[in-house]
Amino acid sequence: MRQIAIFASGSGSNFQAIVDAVQAGTLKANIGLLVCDQPGAFVIHRAQSAGIPAFVFRAKDYENKQAFEREIQRHLEAAGVDFIVLAGYMRLIGPTLLESYGGRIVNIHPSLLPAFPGKDAVGQALEAGVKITGVTVHYVDAGMDTGEIIEQEIVRISIGETRDSLQEKIQHVEHHLYPVTLNHLFLTTGY
Ligand code: GAR
Repeated sequence: MRQIAIFASGSGSNFQAIVDAVQAGTLKANIGLLVCDQPGAFVIHRAQSAGIPAFVFRAKDYENKQAFEREIQRHLEAAGVDFIVLAGYMRLIGPTLLESYGGRIVNIHPSLLPAFPGKDAVGQALEAGVKITGVTVHYVDAGMDTGEIIEQEIVRISIGETRDSLQEKIQHVEHHLYPVTLNHLFLTTGY
């Protein structure tokens, strides 16, 4: 069984969807650790409620990215983690973690990559006036949302769509797509 860590910075609704899928038995994995870079984030409460240990840190307490990623790595190794799932973790992964976990880190992004990478993908899609956007699950490399695409799902933008309504539609898709894609990945790749 895969031992995964979930990295998150915010509300953690995707974290919750993965926890729920593991508890329901539809995602065959153990969640060994939450890694969170925002001490006030709601995702920390979700981890506590689910009985999942958390490593919470502030980047500014460390000299640089290498220093906090080394600390993260120690926690990952102690928890026996062999696969990393980014779920709203708003930082680029650096060389330290890429060297240890390269090819075993995935991310979810709220657009059809390569369109609208980076921050505020939902706002970017509305601003561009496109009628179709969506969700992408992809491997993580050193770039900003540039890794190999694993799965995508379309979300249509309706007339009169607001940021809130589009965000809700996208998150609804994410909460289904991420656990299903992870389970498929684990079954088919032997991770
Ligand atoms: C999700 O919509 C995720 O796709 C996005 O952050 C949100 C986190 O929500 N990630 C990115 O934009 C990454 N570039 P959550 O904390 O409720 O899961």
